[in-house]
Amino acid sequence: MTSKAHPPTADVVRELLRAVMDPELGDNIVDLGMAGDITVSAEGVVAIGMKLTIKGCPLRVQIKNDIESRVLVHPGVSKVTIDWGEMTADERSAVMTRARWNAREQANETQIPLNARVLAIASGKGGVGKSSVTVNLAAALAAQGHVVGVLDADIWGFSIPRMLNMPDRLEAHRVDGSDKPRIIPNERQVGAGLLKVVSTGMLVEDEGTALMWRGLMLTKAVEQFLHDVHWGELDYLLIDMPPGTGDVQMGLARMLPRTDLIIVTTPAVSAQKVAIRAADMARRSFLRVAGVIENMTSFTCEHGTEYELFGKGGGQTLATEIGAPLLGNIPIESAVAHGSDTGEPIVLSQKGAAAQAFTAIAQRIIDETVSTQDMIGCSARTEDVVHVSISQRN
Ligand SMILES: Nc1ncnc2c1ncn2[C@@H]1O[C@H](COP(=O)(O)OP(=O)(O)O)[C@@H](O)[C@H]1O
Ligand SMILES: [Mg+2]
Repeated sequence: MTSKAHPPTADVVRELLRAVMDPELGDNIVDLGMAGDITVSAEGVVAIGMKLTIKGCPLRVQIKNDIESRVLVHPGVSKVTIDWGEMTADERSAVMTRARWNAREQANETQIPLNARVLAIASGKGGVGKSSVTVNLAAALAAQGHVVGVLDADIWGFSIPRMLNMPDRLEAHRVDGSDKPRIIPNERQVGAGLLKVVSTGMLVEDEGTALMWRGLMLTKAVEQFLHDVHWGELDYLLIDMPPGTGDVQMGLARMLPRTDLIIVTTPAVSAQKVAIRAADMARRSFLRVAGVIENMTSFTCEHGTEYELFGKGGGQTLATEIGAPLLGNIPIESAVAHGSDTGEPIVLSQKGAAAQAFTAIAQRIIDETVSTQDMIGCSARTEDVVHVSISQRN
């Protein structure tokens, strides 16, 4: 007999909600005081009272999705209901003060702009295509005119410089009157957009020297990249994670809790089992899983016959199991590997099923990211401007 999981307590739900950010206000909905009463019934129905800065806030849909994707996956939760309310003028002004304070604090914490969507590409093990996914999504987003940061967090197994043909050494200097030098990302223009890339491969002499880094300062190196890189303007930041789970992911969760994970798996059951561990780690560190990508789905030979070399259905099974969407399936094509060797991500060629699949996933990411334009009508910025101008008049 399988025993049914117990529903979480209200306190646990509140902890889960700490991972839901109001992207406009740059803080989580619990610390901002937006999450009110939480009740959990014996049947696992979680009822959450949410106070928005203004009732018609366009972020409402995103916040709702975020709440659901974090709470519904918890064992024992059968349903989530949200009761939407609106803050009083006093509550709103307290929130604004806090948001302004946070904006200043976070500016010291990391150099990553608050509006940038942060996506970490993770997997349970190496060789499943994390780096291939990272460079192709980054290139596809840039080709759409976006400014895309790429942080190669695979400190000793770096491959990004080669895959994007960006071998130059990084430079560091003082910017905007900063007291210490900042690392300046290497840039590459892609269509109307721009890639800004940082990797330990741009610090060390060659891939052999990189072995010296092994085990050494692994988390520290990623932390340092988050602290010390001068990213400037960014729409997206893609982080190519080292294989497996552990310190780097926990460090990332602590420093950049708004990070969403994209989990890459192959169709094989074994890969999918390892990927579940990555997703489990995400849950424990309160990072959200934005979706699953199945790579190496199948190989189609020149006669048009499709071979499922690495099994079938691993991506969908994993997605269902962890309650995240399957963002897409990438077929096996020698052009994917060739593109990585020559530094021209396959997606830029616009040719073949793999390129199409990467383009579609990038489009999906763009579509579900609330644009800054949409947010302008929302609470924070407008309110802030109004408050400042009123206080100056008095
Ligand atoms: N869809 C694909 N078709 C063909 N080769 C692929 C595909 N995805 C990845 N590869 C190749 O598989 C190897 C591992 O991919 P990589 O992106 O480096 O994985 P990871 O970063 O997870 O270790 C590389 O040689 C890469 O070129
Ligand atoms: Mg890699």
